[in-house]
Amino acid sequence: MKGIYRFVGSRLFILPLVIAPFAYLAIVLATGLRPETMSVESDKVQETPADKEEFDLSQFTVSEKELQEATAGTGSEKVANLHERLTDDTGNIAITLFVLVLCLTPLKVLFRRNKFISALNRHRRTVGLACFFYACLHLSIYLTNGINTLLDELTRLYIAAGLSAFAILLVMAVTSNNWAQRKIGGRKWKKLHRIVYFAIPILIYHRAWAGKVSEETIRETLIWFSPLIILQTLRIVRQFQERQKKATSPT
Ligand code: HEM
Repeated sequence: MKGIYRFVGSRLFILPLVIAPFAYLAIVLATGLRPETMSVESDKVQETPADKEEFDLSQFTVSEKELQEATAGTGSEKVANLHERLTDDTGNIAITLFVLVLCLTPLKVLFRRNKFISALNRHRRTVGLACFFYACLHLSIYLTNGINTLLDELTRLYIAAGLSAFAILLVMAVTSNNWAQRKIGGRKWKKLHRIVYFAIPILIYHRAWAGKVSEETIRETLIWFSPLIILQTLRIVRQFQERQKKATSPT
């Protein structure tokens, strides 16, 4: 059993878990950019021998320009779809890691003696930094449309929310190292890192209202965040009970 806890607490356990989404994104990108996936939909329609006779291509000559004009719309539509897919996927990966890392502390408070949870808690920094990395990818993919898109769209509340959440994650990431912890001082550092809790409602709003908001996206987002909301509520209740107990116990 000791070996299992040691493995769960080791880099060998966590690194594949945080790198796997990157491999997935690389596959989405590679398959999305394959020429055959960019071909015109009607290519897939089965031709009958009669069709072949009627539309014998050798009878027509199509100029390069005509061919480009005929396929341009479809190609750019696919690129736009790929762009949207990658934005959504990187955003969802970042949110999953965000929920995961914020579930680790309440789990530790609720199950203080559980060695498996203690081993998982060793990865808080790695998972937090991975979350920031995927949030950076998400923002970079969005910014491929140009910085002006961001400036123009800042009036949209969900974009402003995304940017605020990103700023919070940036502060967390920059100060998530021993040097910063020492410089800021343990207590202050802990207080500073509490700003991450502001990111919870902001990200719930950002995810639910991103793109086309609907009852389904709101429900889906709340389900996504429900483990975090439940565990954080239980943690607050437990810590309140513990404080009450301490205050009433005879010294
Ligand atoms: C400056 C910062 C940000 C910008 C400009 C931004 C932009 C966007 C945009 C435009 C979409 C909608 C994509 C679509 O049309 O479907 C989106 C969706 C999303 N973003 Fe962000 N975002 C930012 C920060 C973040 C951060 C920090 C996270 C998470 C940690 C995040 C997570 C998500 C998620 C989960 C979605 C929804 C994906 C889905 O619909 O499946 N975003 N974001």
